[in-house]
Amino acid sequence: MNKLIVLLVLLMAILVAGCADNTEQIIDEPEVIEDEVSEPAEAEDDGTTNADTEKAMGTTVEVMIEDFKFAPKEIRISVGDTIKWTNLDSAPHTATDNNNNFDSGTLAKGESFSMTFEEAGTYDYICTIHPYMKGTVIVEA
Ligand code: CO
Repeated sequence: MNKLIVLLVLLMAILVAGCADNTEQIIDEPEVIEDEVSEPAEAEDDGTTNADTEKAMGTTVEVMIEDFKFAPKEIRISVGDTIKWTNLDSAPHTATDNNNNFDSGTLAKGESFSMTFEEAGTYDYICTIHPYMKGTVIVEA
């Protein structure tokens, strides 16, 4: 009698395991459907928020104006990043793009100017008060 019970229990266990396999398969199918549905939804979100996301993700990099020099003189950033120039000299300076893409105007000691670069390229700039002061911003896509 005991052996029969053991056999019955084993049979039950096999049946339960079989059922468990079936339910797993049933659960898998809706997951695949969910992925298919969520992909176009994500694409729509990207389309509407790309510009905002790039702006939010951009970092601010500092360039100091000190001892009549831009430091660092050449700086490499990515599209969407911002350069913040701060004049640490007693003398006034500007950060003025040679191609009129940006112009800080006169910066007194302690004053700052920020510029966000939305287009890749090489931007050469000078201080218009001291044109020998030169700097370059390289914006990579
Ligand atoms: Co200057």
